[in-house]
Amino acid sequence: MQLFDVYPLYDVTPVSAQGIVVTDDKGTEYLDFYGGHAVISIGHSHPHYVKRITDQLNKIGFYSNSVKNPLQEEVATKLGQLSGCEDYNLFMCNSGAEANENALKLASFHTGKSRVIAFTNGFHGRTSAAVAATDNRKINAPINLQQKVTFLPFNDLQAFQSEIEKGDVCAVIIETIQGVGGLDEPSTEFYQEVASLCKAHKTVLIADEVQCGFGRSGKFFAFQHHGIRPDIISVAKGMGNGFPVGGILIHEDIKASHGLLGTTFGGNHLACAATLAVLEVIGSEKLVENAARLEEYFKALAKEVPQIKRVKGRGLMLGLEFDFEVADLRKSLIHNQKLFTGGAKDKHVLRVLPALNITETHLDTFFKALIAELS
Ligand SMILES: Cc1ncc(COP(=O)(O)O)c(C=O)c1O
Repeated sequence: MQLFDVYPLYDVTPVSAQGIVVTDDKGTEYLDFYGGHAVISIGHSHPHYVKRITDQLNKIGFYSNSVKNPLQEEVATKLGQLSGCEDYNLFMCNSGAEANENALKLASFHTGKSRVIAFTNGFHGRTSAAVAATDNRKINAPINLQQKVTFLPFNDLQAFQSEIEKGDVCAVIIETIQGVGGLDEPSTEFYQEVASLCKAHKTVLIADEVQCGFGRSGKFFAFQHHGIRPDIISVAKGMGNGFPVGGILIHEDIKASHGLLGTTFGGNHLACAATLAVLEVIGSEKLVENAARLEEYFKALAKEVPQIKRVKGRGLMLGLEFDFEVADLRKSLIHNQKLFTGGAKDKHVLRVLPALNITETHLDTFFKALIAELS
């Protein structure tokens, strides 16, 4: 059997990793400023993470959601405390798409309505409703296009108001900082108006924090930069530091009933151990604060590079905009400088998404390498 060939691959084969360093099968070391699509939050193979998952596996790795699993309650308590979202309830699943799928479905159950408002250039995953709310026709099959989704640009309040006033919208889904799209974000004024119009029209506001959540933006959740409270918050990626886990935080105004949502693997013992390890390290190493501090340092260094037109994003979810397409630059950073970075739908943006416990020295190395490739 061969692999179903859907991924264009760089010719690198990582076999081990520690912290921000990834080592390939030839022994070459790479600095990871991409974290495998913003997944690595506390660094590769963090000792506390490895120990917690190993200890858990030696006890019990999995049992279904038909029996009690106190680890899920521990995750909910710790996540509530660290994020300041104690008035939400947690449903655990396995990925970002699944988190958004459940969020959209729950919004529809809760309101009895079915149209979704999503935003231009947004990405919410590849499952049925999540992909329909993703602004990319190429990854929507005819079966997905049955969903009713209206795409609007950020910051056009008039357009938003006239759509939501029609009264048939179950959910507004918004990436607080767009990842795949290229680090654009709504203004605080727009986001606050969206939140209050959602309330007025009994529409569920979903903050997709799959990429920008779990400390990456310099606050635990990126919507906290805007002083709003979504009804549902979707999380994944950094939540498991590589272990496949996702979830939705559901405001306690939305009530649960048995059988409403469900999953075989979601919230299994290993996923909980991984998430707890991540939360413990984010707390003990003050990684949210570190991400906020390093944003300033990064932006100061970027000012010294004349080819950079603009720095986008927050915390350690950053994008460098150039007036040329960055595909070749990314390749030369990998092959000449041994450094991983990310691209975006906006081909002029180089994405930088390192682990949240990097230091100033790592950023010095990053800019030295970038300048070497630009000159
Ligand atoms: C904002 C956002 N939402 C959802 C997803 C989908 O997550 P997953 O690939 O885990 O299904 C992604 C993945 O890139 C994402 O960036």
